[in-house]
Amino acid sequence: MEFKLNNGVIIPEIGFGTWMIDDKEVKDIVKNAIDLGYNLIDTAEAYGNEKGVGAAIRDSGYPRNYIFVTTKLDGNVKNIKDAKKCFQDSYKKLDIGAIDLMLIHSPQPWGEWKDKNKRYFKENLEIWGMLEEEYLYGRVRAIGVSNFMIDDLENILNNCNVKPMVNQILAHIGNMPFDLINYCKKNGIIVEAYSPFGHGPILNNKEIIKMADWYGVKPTNICIKYLMQHGLIPLPKATSNEHIKDNLNLDFTISDDDMKKLDNIKDNDYKEYSKFPVFSNKE
Ligand SMILES: NC(=O)c1ccc[n+]([C@@H]2O[C@H](COP(=O)([O-])OP(=O)(O)OC[C@H]3O[C@@H](n4cnc5c(N)ncnc54)[C@H](OP(=O)(O)O)[C@@H]3O)[C@@H](O)[C@H]2O)c1
Repeated sequence: MEFKLNNGVIIPEIGFGTWMIDDKEVKDIVKNAIDLGYNLIDTAEAYGNEKGVGAAIRDSGYPRNYIFVTTKLDGNVKNIKDAKKCFQDSYKKLDIGAIDLMLIHSPQPWGEWKDKNKRYFKENLEIWGMLEEEYLYGRVRAIGVSNFMIDDLENILNNCNVKPMVNQILAHIGNMPFDLINYCKKNGIIVEAYSPFGHGPILNNKEIIKMADWYGVKPTNICIKYLMQHGLIPLPKATSNEHIKDNLNLDFTISDDDMKKLDNIKDNDYKEYSKFPVFSNKE
């Protein structure tokens, strides 16, 4: 299965995350992930590994158009001059020709995450205009956003020439922002679910473990399949061969009753990772 973005570009139904994979290691890990079956690779300027990701794509032996590569403009950059430079840097570091999808990483700089008094509507629109230009020029095949809330999206939708194709957000069993997901779907924006295991801690949830036992799969498989059955594109990250392989064991269906049970789980305890803005649970 795959999804069609609102501009007709095809995007795979599951991706491979690369946050916290060092640039020196990422090439081999991504090449392995591609060999094992992933063809959507998620990186970002902020991960510092675009060079290694680009090298993996070029050396993979697969045709360039088989692999879909997403990267993101630094969330801290909120002026057009630096945003342009950021785009150029990513383009050069990846060195794969047109980027498949470029996202604005965050509507606010990380230090002002979800600060209601510090919004960047005007700046995000300007940066969106720059992305539109690159899209129309052909240096990027699709453009979108990440961590955008409904009002951030409204700001773009009400003023843009090209509608965002994707919103990449935190979504996993235990923390599903259904209002935002439904808003995106209603507006033709595909939702990518980052941190499908809540960065790890959610895999210890007893209800998820119990359900995985019943289906004869791993908790990670339940987490991924749940998101897919909700029409989202999950972006699991793994480094070991065993994990990378395991996470593609998806040949089963979660029943409607069990989906409802999973919908009702509330678990957003990110333990030591709550120090990261994205896991800080700020509303
Ligand atoms: N847009 C944004 O702001 C944003 C924010 C966060 C993440 N993301 C994207 O989403 C991707 C995924 O999110 P994430 O990196 O936060 O974490 P995640 O995918 O929710 O969880 C990764 C953790 O789960 C472990 N794991 C993976 N497969 C496993 C398995 N089969 N069994 C047991 N443990 C397993 C990994 O261990 P090993 O590494 O040891 O295999 C790692 O510790 C990122 O890499 C990034 O591409 C985007």
